Parts: sequence; structure tokens; C-alpha cells
Amino acid sequence: MLVHVVGARPNFPKLAPVWRAARDRGLRQFVIHTGQHYDDAMSASMLRDVEAPEPDVNLGVGSGSHAVQTGKIMEGLESLLLSLSPSWTVTYGDVNSTLAAALVAAKCGLRQAHVEAGVRSGDRAMPEEINRLVADRLADLCLAPSSSAAETLAREGVAAERIAVVGNVMVDTVLHSLPRATMSGATERYGRDGAHVLVTLHRPSNVDEPHRLRAIITALDAIAETRPVLFPVHPRTQACLESAGIVSSRVTFLAPLPYLEVLDLQRSAFAVVTDSGGMQVESTTLGVPCVTVRTSTEWTETIAQGTNTLVPAPEHIAAAVESGPSRRRTGTPAEWDGRAAVRAIDALIARGCA
Ligand code: UD1
Repeated sequence: MLVHVVGARPNFPKLAPVWRAARDRGLRQFVIHTGQHYDDAMSASMLRDVEAPEPDVNLGVGSGSHAVQTGKIMEGLESLLLSLSPSWTVTYGDVNSTLAAALVAAKCGLRQAHVEAGVRSGDRAMPEEINRLVADRLADLCLAPSSSAAETLAREGVAAERIAVVGNVMVDTVLHSLPRATMSGATERYGRDGAHVLVTLHRPSNVDEPHRLRAIITALDAIAETRPVLFPVHPRTQACLESAGIVSSRVTFLAPLPYLEVLDLQRSAFAVVTDSGGMQVESTTLGVPCVTVRTSTEWTETIAQGTNTLVPAPEHIAAAVESGPSRRRTGTPAEWDGRAAVRAIDALIARGCA
């Protein structure tokens, strides 16, 4: 049996194509949702939109400090994984659920594969970077999204037989979902085709400190003088905006939107402004200019492709948005072809997954 462990919004678009590829090969599967994300918008709606399966179990851990959240997930997973005794356990991406599952599977002596292995920002101040490093270190099979990620793993001393370059599973989901996204009506409802700027921000480094968050909102407010600026707000960011009393009358703040609507709004955007890893990948897949409000990125392929640019200083965001058209591209990096999940399942079957 193949057991998948997921828990937070960015995991679900990664799970869906892998689960479908395993189903198509007749593998028995079990999906564990840790409950790290629990709002309908952050979890159930996302699972539906990407056509992921209903989880077989939800551990319901909810929010907490990193140690509390990780600890609760580990506690919930230990007996469950031991009783399921999977032939392989699969973890995804870089959230706390990934870290917890990697530790538990390793200590239970279970074989595990990490989807999106070898992805590095080089910034250990990001909790996600710590999670990636541990998950790759413990994985028996590192499923890398690109050859550059595989080279990173090799440089870190991971043996070649533990690495398989399969491609980017998030791209599988973008390509699979695009026809339905285009029918979602989000562009007509909220935006202006080819003219609006889509914003998402939730990283602690951007939103937790009121002075920085205020500077970013001031920059967005200035852009909104000439273009519609649409900002679906992550719960963490909403709490920070409220406690600091930060407002803008020109920016359109929205509740977190369904995946298909966000994908449609990215497709039709003049530019995307984000600190999300997933949206850097999605915008590059769609050939849309992206301004990443960070000092580093784990998705260096998006910079090499030319669509994405790093703009850590809030006062430079507006100019970077306006230079967007020069970064429009067609085509995607070589291994981002929509077949990554099939290759991931083939790699697992070749290693005894049944
Ligand atoms: C998590 C991931 C991050 C990912 C992000 C995408 C880690 C370390 N971080 O960050 O990699 O990019 O998800 O969304 O795993 N909350 C709700 N409802 C929810 C979920 C969260 O209201 O369904 C609120 C809670 O107040 C919580 C806060 O959001 O304290 C932060 O949630 P948490 O899961 O701790 O981290 P994220 O910032 O969402």
C-alpha cells in the first residue's frame, strides 16, 4: 500500500496528480490529512478543485507553534503508520506536515519518498527550508522536480540511486486544471483580462512585522491607482493586517479564493506579486510575469526562464510590475511537461511499491 501524508494548502495540488497516477496503475492507496490547514478555503475546497481524493483520515491537529504543530502531527502519525505498514510513504513539499511525516516514517523504519526533493532557497530563516532539508535527508527516494534540484541533492551527498528526476508535479496540476479554471468566471467577476495585478502574501518575513507589511500595502495601493489590484488574503495575513490596523481603499481585498479561480486570475493577470512558492511555479507555467517579494527563491528555474524576478524592497515592487511585459514567455522549463506524477509512480513501482 502507498500512503500519502498531506496537511496544508500547498500540498494538495501536489498530491492530486500523484494519487491519480497511482490509481491508474492499480496501486492500493491511503491518504492521511494531518489537519494543519482546516478552513474550507484552505483545505476542502482546494482538495475538490484539484480533483484530489477525499482523505481517508484527518488527524485534526490545527494551528500552533512550529514545535507544537509538528509534535502533534508526529503523535497522530506514529500508531497510524505502524498499523498501515505501507510499502512506501510519500511526503510532499515543505510544510510542517512534511517534516513530521518524514521523522515518523524514518523512526518507524518505513520506506519514504519525498516529492519536490532538492528544492532549496538557501535561506535557513525560512521554516520551509528546514523542513526540506530534513525530508530529503531522510527520504529513501528523492523525487526531484528538475535536474538542477537533483544536482543540489548530489552536492549535498545524496547517493545517485536515491534520486529520480521526475519533473514538477505542480505543473501537472496546472495543465490538468486550466480548462476548468478558464471556465470559473473569476476573471470576469473580480479582474480585468490582461490588466489586473494578482497579489498573495503570507510569509512571516513579509507579514508578521507591521512596518514591513505597511510598506508593502503602500506600494500595492500606489499600483492600484492605475490597475485593479486583487489580493486574496491568507488567514495569517488577515490577522496581521487587522492587529496592525493596516488598510487600503484602492486594493481589492478578497477572502482566500478557490484554486481554480486563483489559477484563472493568474492566467489573465498583467503581473503576479507573491511570496508563495507555488505561484512562482504556476505563473511561470502560464508565461505570466511574477514579482516575488523575497530575497531568495527555491524555484530558481523560474528566474532562469525569465518570468520571475526577486524584489525584496517594497519601494521597487511598482516598477517591477510595470516592467512585466518584458518578462512574458511561452514554453516552460524542460522537465515541466505535465507527466511528472506518472514518472514519480513509475520510479516507486520500480523500487517495489505495490
Ligand atoms: C503554511 C506553510 C507554508 C505554506 C502555507 C500556505 C509551514 C511551516 N508553513 O504556512 O509553507 O506556504 O501554509 O498556506 O508548514 N489558519 C487559519 N485557517 C487555516 C490554516 C491556518 O485560520 O486553515 C491561520 C491560523 O491562525 C494559523 C495561521 O493561519 O496560526 C498560520 O497557519 P500555519 O499552518 O501555521 O502556517 P501558514 O502561514 O499557513
